[in-house]
Amino acid sequence: MSELNRIALKIISNGKGILAADESNGTMTKRLDAVNVPSTPENRLLFRETLFSSESMQECIGGVILYDETINQKSSLGKPIPDLISSSGAVPGIKVDTGAKDLANSYDEKITEGLDGLRERLKKYYELGARFTKWRAVYNISGKLPSKLAVHSNAHALARYSALVQESKMVPIVEPEVLMDGDHSAELCLNKTSEVIKKCFEALILHKVDLSGIILKPNMILAGNKSKDKISSDEVSQKTLECIKNTVPSEVPGIAFLSGGQSEKEATENLDLINKNNNTKFIMTYSYGRALQQGALKTWSKNTNDVESTQNTFNHRAKMCSLAAKGKWSIELENK
Ligand code: 13P
Repeated sequence: MSELNRIALKIISNGKGILAADESNGTMTKRLDAVNVPSTPENRLLFRETLFSSESMQECIGGVILYDETINQKSSLGKPIPDLISSSGAVPGIKVDTGAKDLANSYDEKITEGLDGLRERLKKYYELGARFTKWRAVYNISGKLPSKLAVHSNAHALARYSALVQESKMVPIVEPEVLMDGDHSAELCLNKTSEVIKKCFEALILHKVDLSGIILKPNMILAGNKSKDKISSDEVSQKTLECIKNTVPSEVPGIAFLSGGQSEKEATENLDLINKNNNTKFIMTYSYGRALQQGALKTWSKNTNDVESTQNTFNHRAKMCSLAAKGKWSIELENK
């Protein structure tokens, strides 16, 4: 087993998943504004440190994705944040893309940037303790979109990123996110997501990326958030499994879904059914941002010094996600 494969499996095995706490300062400011907490470096650290010291980190969280600001911060007890994460048994990771920018000649679409100087940045992050990374590409479904141009150029960037990350001895998370915004059907989401993931793997193979040392982070197959034809959780799981089976090469160790705007309960229930119906050999787990943190953020915002209540909320959510990653979640356990 290669070292990269070993790290990937450590992150996603045994009902563990990923806590995506890598919101850029811009995105984190929006999240904090929404709960009326000033977005200062100290507050961003306090919230994240509270989560990273929770009990559920040991059983439920295999990896944490950080943002550049956080990986360079120290906890209130003076411990570097990557050390705090490692001490719970989880693997520290880092977002290395520099954001989605307008794609020339298709201005309604985005291309993710960050390749310039990436090799040097990766060296620095490795020294800080990171052992895996994330790069997110985004695609819109609307009219003729995503265009071939967006599908190709983002796959190319994801592949160049992945090759550089593996050269630096870290596991790349490959995240092609087909957005749920719009009134499209689940069937269209299935077609477009399948096309996007296929193109990503063509590019990864061309760039000689070791597929046993990556984690794929896709969206689940859902109807658009403005669609009148919502599908059931069982249908979500069936379509998502169909998509993965038809597009992901067997060497890939596992899939860690993003939540993408689903509620905490929806994201948990859908993952649970994916695992209950899983007829593939892939591990299916979570790499949630909002669907792991929303409730905890709300609790924390009422009293930012109330560590216990914030951690209780987070522990319950992480536990539910971990049960879902094993196909053992139920509404009774959710409401306990
Ligand atoms: P959400 O689960 O909130 O979609 O965030 C996951 C993520 O890392 C997006 O890049």
